[in-house]
Amino acid sequence: MVLKSQHIRQVPKFKKGEQLLQNQQLPIQLLVDGQGTVFVNLNEIKPFSIILSTDTNPKSTGHGFELTIDESSAIFYQWDNGDRKKISCDLNVESALDKDNNCIYWLSLNTHNPERNLRYGKGEMRFKTQLTKVSILDQDEFKWIHNIKYVIFLGSINQESVQIWRDPVTIEPAIIVISNDEITMEFVANYEFTISANLTPECQKLYANIAGKEFILDTDDFPNFSEAIKRSINNPNGWCYKKLKEKSEEFGKKDEAATYLRITLGINQGDSPGVPYVMEIWPGGHYSPIHNHARANAIIRVLHGEIVVSLYSMLSLVATHQKPFSEQRLKQGEITWIAPELNQTHKLYNPNGKDSPCITIQCYLYSDKDNSHYEYFDYINNDGTEICQFDPVSDMDFLEFKNLMKEEWHNLHNI
Ligand SMILES: [Fe+2]
Repeated sequence: MVLKSQHIRQVPKFKKGEQLLQNQQLPIQLLVDGQGTVFVNLNEIKPFSIILSTDTNPKSTGHGFELTIDESSAIFYQWDNGDRKKISCDLNVESALDKDNNCIYWLSLNTHNPERNLRYGKGEMRFKTQLTKVSILDQDEFKWIHNIKYVIFLGSINQESVQIWRDPVTIEPAIIVISNDEITMEFVANYEFTISANLTPECQKLYANIAGKEFILDTDDFPNFSEAIKRSINNPNGWCYKKLKEKSEEFGKKDEAATYLRITLGINQGDSPGVPYVMEIWPGGHYSPIHNHARANAIIRVLHGEIVVSLYSMLSLVATHQKPFSEQRLKQGEITWIAPELNQTHKLYNPNGKDSPCITIQCYLYSDKDNSHYEYFDYINNDGTEICQFDPVSDMDFLEFKNLMKEEWHNLHNI
């Protein structure tokens, strides 16, 4: 699946002080008639509606669909020349108005056979964050769906948050990136894996830098590098052991398992949050907090061991949003990706024991169109009480670290 982030319509910003009034209608056109996804958050937690319509004033003429979210439900209506009828009512509390004011609500319209439908979800716009689906079955009755052009909002929406995406939500994007030589017809048919050409241009660049066969830990000059790191983690006199202990309060209240080491390759060149290339060391059983990635693009490759990547719809203190919608175990050599709009909020966890550390390379790049360069990864602290800013600092430079591990290895073996 090709990422669709290049096909987005952002609504022009209002002049300073100019806000949408309560219940003011603002028609915006879809990029393609009869399809697309709308993405919005609110100024305040109050009921609101999104109308997709053939006409700019669906309350008098034309046809369309309305999604209304209130304190207890998500209701779909159909509009026909001024008449409104209810077609679906979702009373699930998770579908109703969200407790988190930063929650993103999305609505997708797909008019292509055989999956003609409306989908509604919260958080990242993707198949797995969908909460409700309404199928549009009768082709003759609904011929007008291909003429839906306009998006109209009712309620206190955050004008700057509105985005219209060209494409509907249809499939879940594949998490693992494989090389062109590995992709098969079955993988394409099942959306099982993706290739780097389907990712954002920034992810393609990062992938090309770290996916090569020589990008490995145990090289001829130090074939025991990964073993030396393991020893350093388990040896009370090792640098890794001591540094990990030092970091046990890095994300809030003391938690020795909520630690990992960040070994940076090169310097910060102003186009990524922190240094663009970071080797991360995850002792067995250790994990990160749930965090996001400053809307940066990223590629992660497992250099040694295994890591579980859990994905979340959004970064939120609301408990229901802290349940992952996806968990993927990545083995040595496997690669995953992050884009500004997808896979942004995750938690990494080494599921293995103390003799099986995981070592990954993470690399980051802001999008060309990102002119804010937010420098922090926001995370939920160990107490679960606060969203904090993590400054992606370095524990040590890579070349210095490699020399230190050589030294520890030689000392251990009296070489
Ligand atoms: Fe991360």
